[in-house]
Amino acid sequence: MRLPTPAAGTEIAGLGHAEASRLMDNHELEGMMDTSDEWIRQRTGIVTRRIADGQTVADLATDAARHALEDSGLPAEAIDLVVVATTTAEERSPNTAGRVSAALGLGADGRGPGIMDVNTACSGFEYALGVADQSIRTGSATHAIVIGAEKLSSVTDWTDRTTAVLTADGAGAAVVRPSGTPRIGPVVWGSKPALADAVRIGPPSGTFSQNGREVLRWALTDAADHARAAVERAGLALADIQVLAAHQANLRIIEPLADALGLADRIVVTDVTESGNTSAASVPLGLSRWWHAGRIPEDVPALLFGFGGGFTYAGMVAMTPRRG
Ligand code: ACO
Repeated sequence: MRLPTPAAGTEIAGLGHAEASRLMDNHELEGMMDTSDEWIRQRTGIVTRRIADGQTVADLATDAARHALEDSGLPAEAIDLVVVATTTAEERSPNTAGRVSAALGLGADGRGPGIMDVNTACSGFEYALGVADQSIRTGSATHAIVIGAEKLSSVTDWTDRTTAVLTADGAGAAVVRPSGTPRIGPVVWGSKPALADAVRIGPPSGTFSQNGREVLRWALTDAADHARAAVERAGLALADIQVLAAHQANLRIIEPLADALGLADRIVVTDVTESGNTSAASVPLGLSRWWHAGRIPEDVPALLFGFGGGFTYAGMVAMTPRRG
């Protein structure tokens, strides 16, 4: 037995995203349930969110992947691994990654890429990026697309004001390729069994439910330690981090997390205000929206950190792509 010569490291070569078709503001929700624009802004920071009308999760994921490929300059045929992080796949099988791969026209020659879905809810993108990084570094893949995609509107109870004001749809993607030096740090991932039922999509209702206060408490007490561990594992200091892209759950979590890490004066992605909470899609969607808007510089260390259903969390440092 022998191991293939591993790649020294991997890097994000391009970012892309797909926005769901319909913009929904807080006033529209006022007409559907007992809530107010003021409550939603104050408690969550959300002003608008997007809802997929006539788009599937696989459609959103495919659009995001196409844009990420375009951004990277790599041809789709280079991709030999597709990983989709989602909790809202339409089908149990085939998986969403397989649908995306087919829609991108991969595998027409009978040699399709490896395809897998990762279900760790809101930390899904970071888990998936960790899998892709390790697959390339150990020789199981050469180029990967990692996608976070969700259609939370399909599992939202639109009569429940405690959750319906948060959820949204969208997708974000990253193309990952080998690199001469490490540009994606080791993933730090974990779980907290005591909170396993704090965020659920399942029977009997089949809709999204959560103990928001318990999650909020965890996020304000424990999250910073895990995020800090991801920076240390990459051999960096918090002073090196230029961008914080944390799960876009709530501005009341993102801002205190940035404060706790001493990163409030860096670029803190706050896309939740415009895109709402898109679970596994939220970090790559926010990152890509800000990247393509010119709000994120090239070639700087970004701390990615997700947490949610399971209860799961994961994070790593990744260098932002190099332009051109
Ligand atoms: N409009 C008006 N009033 C509301 C609404 C609403 N939409 N929702 C709840 N309220 C009321 C409650 O009934 C409660 O009233 P009461 O005091 O009379 O009982 C009051 O507002 C306060 O409710 P809380 O639940 O204490 O509000 P809180 O400040 O905790 O905010 C929230 C709720 C936004 C859900 C918050 O707890 C949170 O963001 N938690 C974290 C969620 C999270 O990060 N999940 C991560 C994984 S899940 C995912 O990302 C898909």
